[in-house]
Amino acid sequence: MTAYDALFRHAFTRVEPEKAHHLGFRAVRAAAPVSSRLALPGGPVRAMGLAFPNVLGLAAGFDKNAVGVDGLAGLGFGHVEVGTVTGRPQPGNPQPRLFRLPADGAVVNRMGFNNDGAAVVSQRLAAWRSRRHRHTPVLGVNIGKTKVVPEDDQAAVEDDYRLSTRLLAPYADYLVVNVSSPNTPGLRSLQSVERLGPLLDAVRAEADATTARRVPLLVKIAPDLADEDVLAVADLAKQLGLDGITATNTTISREGLTSSPAEVEAIGAGGLSGRPLTARAEQVMRLLRDRVGPDLTLVGVGGITTVDDARARLAAGATLLQGYSAFVYEGPLWPRRILRGVASG
Ligand SMILES: Cc1cc2nc3c(=O)[nH]c(=O)nc-3n(C[C@H](O)[C@H](O)[C@H](O)COP(=O)(O)O)c2cc1C
Repeated sequence: MTAYDALFRHAFTRVEPEKAHHLGFRAVRAAAPVSSRLALPGGPVRAMGLAFPNVLGLAAGFDKNAVGVDGLAGLGFGHVEVGTVTGRPQPGNPQPRLFRLPADGAVVNRMGFNNDGAAVVSQRLAAWRSRRHRHTPVLGVNIGKTKVVPEDDQAAVEDDYRLSTRLLAPYADYLVVNVSSPNTPGLRSLQSVERLGPLLDAVRAEADATTARRVPLLVKIAPDLADEDVLAVADLAKQLGLDGITATNTTISREGLTSSPAEVEAIGAGGLSGRPLTARAEQVMRLLRDRVGPDLTLVGVGGITTVDDARARLAAGATLLQGYSAFVYEGPLWPRRILRGVASG
């Protein structure tokens, strides 16, 4: 462990998690003029018609409002997925809503899509696109449902995702339809193929009506789907001509944790991420790859912590990788460490 890492870990594990996130993210942004001069590690990956500078990206939820893409790219991430952005701005759930379980290398969050909304993020991305960048990472935009839109009103849900698509597709290298966060009531019911098919069709049509370029479209799924439902999404993706699947989001399960049941209970509801997710996320990846064949892009996310985890996820069929929780625990050198390890394998 380097001195930088030690400082990072000790300083940031003593601070309240959401505050630590803001402090850490501020430092990452402040370092952008310097960090963005460093060479990007790892070899390029072509996927969905895009040239990714390397295999590892930052998962959605870290930069929900697209305020720090350059600083994050400076740490080595070849792609940054901003969002989740919702059609309308919303405050998210009351704090505290972000928790660590250090004994498990895990995070629990019930942020609830706190974000500035599609219109503000769209303007921010327009400004970002108009600036010059030393390394331009691939920019993914992850979109989700505004909380006040009733989840059982399919037309209203489609309108909400369409609004985000119209505003954000022009600036996105790829779009992800998030139907898998556990923190927006009813959101995950949109994963059923009867609802997901029409929703993805609506987003596809809106993106095509907005931009001449064909913006690649992915869907992000939960690890809590039954295997047969994972396979149903895989079949749907092929049938609809989707560009990819991102697997997985956080889990509502609390099984197999070493943290005390009292500590886990005290945290309450939310999505669990990090090490406890590694095995299931890898299994979902394998199921998907076996079903979709070699061509569809699959983005592997969930519990990727070590170089071995990263290699195993690629071996299970991932085209690209993402991480969030391990970055929180291991600090700013984590992406380069993983990329160096994967490249040397
Ligand atoms: C604090 C926090 C906020 C998150 N917010 C989002 C989000 O807004 N949208 C989304 O699709 N996933 C979100 N995620 C899920 C991550 O993108 C990722 O799928 C999940 O954490 C598993 O990866 P990990 O084990 O590397 O953290 C969030 C995760 C965390 C820890």
